[in-house]
This record gives sequence, C-alpha cells and structure tokens, in this order.
Amino acid sequence: MQVVIVDTPDEVGRLAAAKIGHLVRNRPDAVLGLATGSSPLAIYAELTRQVEEKGLDCSQVRAFALDEYVGLPQGHPESYRAVLERDVVGPLRMDPANVHVPDGAAADLAAACADYEARIAATGPVDLQILGIGANGHIGFNEPTSSFASRTRIKTLAPKTRADNARFFDSPDQVPMHCLTQGLGTILDARTLVLVAQGESKADAVARMVEGPVSSMCPGSALQLHADANVIVDEAAASRLTMDDYYRYTFANRPEWQRFETFGG
Ligand code: F6R
Repeated sequence: MQVVIVDTPDEVGRLAAAKIGHLVRNRPDAVLGLATGSSPLAIYAELTRQVEEKGLDCSQVRAFALDEYVGLPQGHPESYRAVLERDVVGPLRMDPANVHVPDGAAADLAAACADYEARIAATGPVDLQILGIGANGHIGFNEPTSSFASRTRIKTLAPKTRADNARFFDSPDQVPMHCLTQGLGTILDARTLVLVAQGESKADAVARMVEGPVSSMCPGSALQLHADANVIVDEAAASRLTMDDYYRYTFANRPEWQRFETFGG
C-alpha cells in the first residue's frame, strides 16, 4: 500500500487527479470506478480543469459507479446517477452512454445487481477505482462485517452512514435505508485503487484501514489485500497514523522512474 500525506484537502484532489489524468492520456478508453460523496469532489474539479485547460479528453472513458441508493424516484437530484451526471459526466465531457450506475429503481434488485456485475465483467476490469471511506470504515456502501468476497448486492445502510449523508437531503428520514453497492470482492478486482480522505472525522477510519488488522469490522482494511492500493490523505485525516514519518519518507524518496507512473510528478 502506498500512503501519501499532503498538506491540504485540495492537494489530495490534485494528486489523485494527476494519476487519473495520466492514465486517461495513455489509455483514452480507460475504465474508471467512480465514487460519490464529498471526498472525490476535489478530484473531479481538478480533472474538469484538465479537460478545460489542458485538453484532457474523457469522451471515450468508460465508468462504473460504486453504488446507488434504493428507492429514490427516477431523476431525484441526490440519486448517485444524478450526482455523477452533474459533477462528473457533464463537466468531464464524458459520453453518458459509457457511464453505468446500479439500477436502484429496478423492480428486481437482485437481477439488477447480477446485471451490473456482468457489465463490469464484460467491460472491465476497472483500471482505476476511486474510493472514499466512511467514518465507520466502509468503502462503497460495504458496511462493517461485509464479506471480503462480496459482489454487487443490496445492503442496509448503517445508522451512522444515514446520519452522515443526511446533509444531502432535506431531513434525515429522507435518506434511503437501502442501497446497491459493488462488493468488496468487486472493488478488489480493479487494477488500481485510489482512496482519498480529508479531515479529522476520517482519521480513525484511515488509521484502522492502513495500520489496523485486516478485518471485516473495517471494510477499508481490504485495501491491505490489494497489490496496487494508494491512499492519499491530508494532514488531518493522517493524524492518527503511527507510521506517518515513514510514509512521508518513502514518498519523498520514491525512485525517479516511479514518479510519473505513480503520481504525475
Ligand atoms: C460513495 C461511497 C462512500 C463514500 C463514503 C465517504 O460512492 O461509496 O463509501 O465514499 O461514505 O463519503 P464522503 O466522501 O461524503 O465523506
């Protein structure tokens, strides 16, 4: 696992976007895994800047969302399909036909999950999966005790997750109870994982993910099982890591040949 600690939340986004931009320039039809929520917004803003000012072409990029709420009416502004269209697909000038989101409005949710897995298998593997982490250690909506072998399926959101996401809705009881989410097994199939976290509220989850035991009690700890997992955090989110000096030292001293491939500089 590569852990990179930077000074500010914006720098988290800039570094992750440098890596993603590098991938897309080398592989214009790369398959990206898209997270929603606040954590990746700085990534999408920086990629938008690259599209507008640096000619980054995302028109052939293919993408799969990590998750979707169940039961929101079609077109609800907080459905992850709507959020991705607003924050990512439009600004990055992606082709909407290339962007897939689990169908949380399907009459047969189990079939929608199986269909989603089949589409990823037919298109993928995902080249680079963007991730955030919940304060309780979830990735995607794989809440604590999720199986490391899990695939896309319906899950019940933890009360903590519903409370954390209430900020996007008019009232806490409007946050859906259920979601469809890629499983931990699905996420681990991606070639590269880039997890970003900012702020003190994520410090405990980040420490458990990076330095704690591999345990379904912290689903993010599944990243320890992945051969190319990259965790980019700001000072506040890194504040409970015990080996922080070592992560700074290894990043500062990474070999010259590795620099561009890893983090664009
Ligand atoms: C979102 C997702 C979640 C979020 C996590 C952190 O698609 O899968 O795992 O990444 O809940 O959310 P924020 O970034 O809003 O703190």
